[in-house]
Amino acid sequence: MRQIIDVDVKTKKAEFARCKTDMLVVGRFSDAEPDEILRKLDDKLGGAVERLKELGDFTGKTRTHAVLYGNGKIAAARLLLVGLGERGKTTLDTLRKAAAIAANRAVELKVKQISLALHRAFGGSLDAAAMGRAIAEGVYYGSYRYDEYVSESENGRLGSLEVQIVDPSPAQLKGLNAGITPGVIIGRMQSYTRTLANRPANVINPPALAKAARDLTRGLTTLRCTIYDERQLEAEKMGGILAVGAGSQSKPRLIILKYMPVKKPARRLPTVALVGKGVTFDSGGISIKPAQDMDQMKMDKTGGIAVLAAMKAAAELELPLNLWGLVPAAENLPSGSSYRPGDIVTTYSGKTVEILNTDAEGRMLLCDALAFAVRQKSDIIIDIATLTGACMVALGSFKAGVMSNDDELVKDLQNAADESGESLWHLPSGDEYAEEMKSKVADLKNAGSRWGGACTAAAFLRQFVGEAKWAHLDIAGMDVLTTPAAHAAPGSTGFGVRLLITYLMNLIEKK
Ligand code: BES
Ligand code: ZN
Ligand code: MN
Repeated sequence: MRQIIDVDVKTKKAEFARCKTDMLVVGRFSDAEPDEILRKLDDKLGGAVERLKELGDFTGKTRTHAVLYGNGKIAAARLLLVGLGERGKTTLDTLRKAAAIAANRAVELKVKQISLALHRAFGGSLDAAAMGRAIAEGVYYGSYRYDEYVSESENGRLGSLEVQIVDPSPAQLKGLNAGITPGVIIGRMQSYTRTLANRPANVINPPALAKAARDLTRGLTTLRCTIYDERQLEAEKMGGILAVGAGSQSKPRLIILKYMPVKKPARRLPTVALVGKGVTFDSGGISIKPAQDMDQMKMDKTGGIAVLAAMKAAAELELPLNLWGLVPAAENLPSGSSYRPGDIVTTYSGKTVEILNTDAEGRMLLCDALAFAVRQKSDIIIDIATLTGACMVALGSFKAGVMSNDDELVKDLQNAADESGESLWHLPSGDEYAEEMKSKVADLKNAGSRWGGACTAAAFLRQFVGEAKWAHLDIAGMDVLTTPAAHAAPGSTGFGVRLLITYLMNLIEKK
């Protein structure tokens, strides 16, 4: 089986025109004159850069790029120009995506080594360590390919990519370098999430996901992994998880990760629980889905895997706070043993739920994990789930929905979203939505009316979080890229890893 691409990121002191490399990468804004390095390179290349602009072939718009050849006039074999768009709209994610485009091109061209001068265009407007981290995250993102089951090797890709961030200034390099370590940790865990999410449901079933969690935590003394199998789920009366998993031969699991740092948490930092939906395949169950695009439902475990990855990254970064990572895992299939519409399920919290639609399974297993997080006395609970098609209808595949009972938590998550480039939009989940989820024959029902489905689903989950500060991230539509993009290959996006870890890192620095 083919391994995913091995990326190595370093800094290197070099003058740009004299940098000997397979490909030198420079950014260009669409509405600004070329900066000093671009002018110098243009000079050496006899005006080739400006000619591209005059001809309209490359004007610096976002998502565009152009390859030029050094022809011995500069030390680099190739010069890749990446569009940065309008200068005034620049964010950290502009740089991350530019680095991703460069890495994506490098893999396509089978270039072994790239030298990035992208940060130069951002001058002093961004912090050097933040830029180093964003670049590292970006090159992991853009170079990623999911091809472990493709046996044909002809015209294949290289097994590794060497990335240098180049600059002539040692002080600048030092700053950039400080961001590389966290960037690589996050980049790796993001790739891990993408690979596990991309793996099909005949490979990743609930026990296999539990084993992956165990393997992930092996050797890390600060990260403990406990698995509840079907017998323990029965003993603990986790009726929601059991109901969703009842139809499959692969029995459900609850994956419980606990992270306790070596260093005692400074001040009174909150205990945070991350809860991720781990439905390894969602056929809809007895309320079965249409055949069209049902294959995509192997990605219904993305939130859960993002939680596993964020926990591992938190441990590797040695973040000084206590964390829980909870992943209820089940396969939602129709069979003679499935749960059915009309069933009344007693959940872990003791609340009963009337099942109206077996395809509204995410909330049925999340509610048990949320109640478990409450019993562990978590101060803050964040759940992440490919929960509703309604959220996709509302927001498309540009932003995930965030619903919450705490405005400060929303603000903190919005900040993390802006920094990480994993974008969020605040949606309501108040009492009028909760009203719709009341049943006549049980405490709750698992499906509301046709309208506002993302909000009623969140309002359902809110019934299980007690007094904790809680936020729900509905990432349906964000989990997968269906067509190739300039900055990424199609398939799982690993959405949530950067967002969650950025949120946690900021929480530690928060005054
Ligand atoms: N996993 C789906 C939501 C989903 C749909 C994610 C499309 C990604 C792409 C979820 O379990 C589901 O089926 N939700 C139902 C809820 C409904 C039956 C109340 C939905 O959104 O249709
Ligand atoms: Zn689902
Ligand atoms: Mn479903």
